[in-house]
Amino acid sequence: MNRALPDVQLRVPIDEDAFAWHRVFADPEVMEFHGGRAAELSVYEELTARQRRHDAELGFCLWTMVGSDGEVLGFTGAQPWPKDWGPTGEIEIGWRLGRAHWGKGYATAAGLATLDRVRAAGVSQIVAMVRADNERSIAVTRRLGMELAERFPHPTLGQPAHCYRLAL
Ligand SMILES: CC(C)(COP(=O)(O)OP(=O)(O)OC[C@H]1O[C@@H](n2cnc3c(N)ncnc32)[C@H](O)[C@@H]1OP(=O)(O)O)[C@@H](O)C(=O)NCCC(=O)NCCS
Repeated sequence: MNRALPDVQLRVPIDEDAFAWHRVFADPEVMEFHGGRAAELSVYEELTARQRRHDAELGFCLWTMVGSDGEVLGFTGAQPWPKDWGPTGEIEIGWRLGRAHWGKGYATAAGLATLDRVRAAGVSQIVAMVRADNERSIAVTRRLGMELAERFPHPTLGQPAHCYRLAL
């Protein structure tokens, strides 16, 4: 990809970002691989508060992505893998953008910035957990140089979750 990546700022989620994430992600297309429908505001209140704790304790988290005009685009960043199955104990990179912001290189730009920040925080390996049919997300892992390393049985879906890895 030779085009210049777009500018995107990454900030530790502020209180108001719970509302922004709730609004930007309230779209069945965005939520296709996350239950298929909009999540309650309380989900984002808990998620953003947890990210502030991660930032304080680890120096990284899922950051709010802010475009050049100050608009919230979504989140990208890293956190400890939060489930009791899969790559427990590892650091997961993740991304989710509002539908209007797909196809512009924002996830790749924010993903590359995340790799730099997480490496600087002393993390030596990162994983991305992606469903096999989430082609757009798999394309992001490819752009970041990640490789399919493992398949974990998913506890509720009838298909494995694919684990992409990258040594930092
Ligand atoms: C997964 C997701 C973040 C990918 O977003 P994306 O915009 O496709 O990813 P990128 O930021 O890497 O953008 C790449 C696209 O931007 C295009 N692009 C346009 N301008 C560009 C530029 N200046 N630089 C780079 N790419 C650019 C690329 O050609 C590519 O388009 P294509 O997919 O049509 O080939 C997004 O689809 C999403 O939020 N999905 C819902 C949530 C989700 O599933 N999250 C992942 C769970 S594992």
